[in-house]
Amino acid sequence: MQLLAVRSGLVWVDATAGGGGHLTEILRRTNNSGTVIGIDRDPTAIGALKAKLGQTAKLVQANYSQIESILEGLGIEKVDGGIIADLGMSSMQIEEAVRGFSFLNDGPLDMRMDPTTKITAAELVNTLPERQLADIIYQYGEERLSRQIASAIVESRPISSTAHLSSIISQCVRRRSRSSYSLHDRLHPATRTFQALRIAVNDELGSLEKFLLSAIKILSTGGRIVVITFHSLEDRLVKQIFRQAAQDCICPPRQPVCTCLKRPELLIITKKPVTPDDIEVLANPRSRSAKLRCGEKVAQEYICRQSYLPSTIKPKS
Ligand SMILES: C[S@@+](CC[C@H](N)C(=O)[O-])C[C@H]1O[C@@H](n2cnc3c(N)ncnc32)[C@H](O)[C@@H]1O
Repeated sequence: MQLLAVRSGLVWVDATAGGGGHLTEILRRTNNSGTVIGIDRDPTAIGALKAKLGQTAKLVQANYSQIESILEGLGIEKVDGGIIADLGMSSMQIEEAVRGFSFLNDGPLDMRMDPTTKITAAELVNTLPERQLADIIYQYGEERLSRQIASAIVESRPISSTAHLSSIISQCVRRRSRSSYSLHDRLHPATRTFQALRIAVNDELGSLEKFLLSAIKILSTGGRIVVITFHSLEDRLVKQIFRQAAQDCICPPRQPVCTCLKRPELLIITKKPVTPDDIEVLANPRSRSAKLRCGEKVAQEYICRQSYLPSTIKPKS
């Protein structure tokens, strides 16, 4: 909340409203003055928030990748306060076995954040060619045993429950770990594969990229963006897009006059990501992998590095 610099009278967007923790705190800090918007893909989350918060916030069930059109629909052109996104799944989604996100509670292999979208985890697991399944597990789960896990899955088809999938993965990982593979850094053996399937089912990285580019675009000068990630693929993407947005002229260093016209749009406030301390992790173990990054939109009239040139050929600004 401090990095978002919440204050009254401006426009604030919580792009992942979830259980409403951040949203409620933003409402409290703005003293109900200004405009507070809560977005979530999950209709159950938006329904529960509507019942809890009434008209105090504008609540929209949608994918945050559509943030520009969502705000346009609300008659808002620019966000002069800030935008926060707290990525991944909510505790509510993990704990409800029927949503199929958890390898600890048995449920249908679903994993859709928005149940109106078509593809479920069961469809991926039961229909994808082995090679494609292995690529998803490797790329989105960073799982070294992706090929072996994909092969074990294909041999055990059809798979329809989270417990069945979890036991197939656990057996496969344990078999390998007895010989060359040391047990996965104390993670549950199914953690990486479940993460990979969830990312694929919800096109999480595609949505995140679109969201970040649009969010930076619609901020007014001085507006802030805060993003909390929970795994390295998300964090890498946030870091990369923040860096690109913060970058000055990208002309070759020896070129005398700037022709790229690239100017920084964002000032990176957190040079290193903010992470929870031991006390926070003890109180809330789910925070252990969180990384928070913050940027502030900057004015575009900016003198680029060629400003040392004689005034006759100096770019205007
Ligand atoms: C970690 S929870 C957010 C918890 C929330 N900050 C709170 O204080 O309760 C993440 C939420 O983001 C939502 N979400 C994930 N991807 C989304 C997307 N592409 N568009 C909109 N919401 C998304 C999930 O449905 C989930 O409710």
